Amino acid sequence: MSEPTGLKRVRKRHFQQARDSGVPIVGLTSYDALSAAIFDQAGVDFLLVGDSAGQVVFGYDSTVPVTVDELIPLTRAVAKAAQRAFVIADMPFGSYELGPDQALSTAFRFMKETGAQAVKLEGGVRSAEQIRRIVDAGIPVMAHIGFTPQSEHQIGGHIVQGRGDGAAALLADAIAVEEAGAFAVVIEMTPSAVAKRVTETVKIPTISVGAGPHTSGQLMVWTDFAGFSGGRYPRFVKKYVDLRAVLGGAVEAYRADVASGAYPAAEHEYE
Ligand code: KIV
Repeated sequence: MSEPTGLKRVRKRHFQQARDSGVPIVGLTSYDALSAAIFDQAGVDFLLVGDSAGQVVFGYDSTVPVTVDELIPLTRAVAKAAQRAFVIADMPFGSYELGPDQALSTAFRFMKETGAQAVKLEGGVRSAEQIRRIVDAGIPVMAHIGFTPQSEHQIGGHIVQGRGDGAAALLADAIAVEEAGAFAVVIEMTPSAVAKRVTETVKIPTISVGAGPHTSGQLMVWTDFAGFSGGRYPRFVKKYVDLRAVLGGAVEAYRADVASGAYPAAEHEYE
């Protein structure tokens, strides 16, 4: 989809068209207007305002504490900046698990208050009723199966999902979200062979986050792909730039310039 297609605006139907014609779908997370505009102009197909904002923006240890009220202004900024990319709002932990009614009212908030074109929520079989209710109300839903970070305490850490007997459960999750009406499904941290089997089984696009190459598309947390996050990166992350080092170096140069009097120079002064 991200090859020059002349698409003015990515719509939900383009995900299915891309999957059916074998054109890979490219996604990144974004949490602010500046990064969203850069990614949009670079031709990224969709921007997920992920609840990974918990760690990236708010400095929490996980996505668990993130609230709808925290994500709404971030999603609005991204949606306003994106001209072409399809913008997806992530529904945070606690905002849909009580049942379809709660899920729909959260989805309504994101759609009415942000300008996003779709919502995403975690869970396969366990979230199918919620997905169905939201889709029936006219809101596209991206599902998310495999490793689901909001359940990390239940899972027991960041653990690859779908190994051994888990493969059948993963497949059942994918089928459940497809039947519930999800337009696409994120598969996070599973063996490539299992994601391949899911991709060959369901008709909707599959989006890999650490689920290998045999899917309809790829998604990365932007601060990971750009080397901006601190600490250890998961195995599936490819660092395209070391932004942390670049920015750190720039700040050191600025600090040194101020200390030496080299900044501001004459060209930075008003007459
Ligand atoms: O919040 C997020 O960034 C996500 C992706 C990792 C799928 O849910």
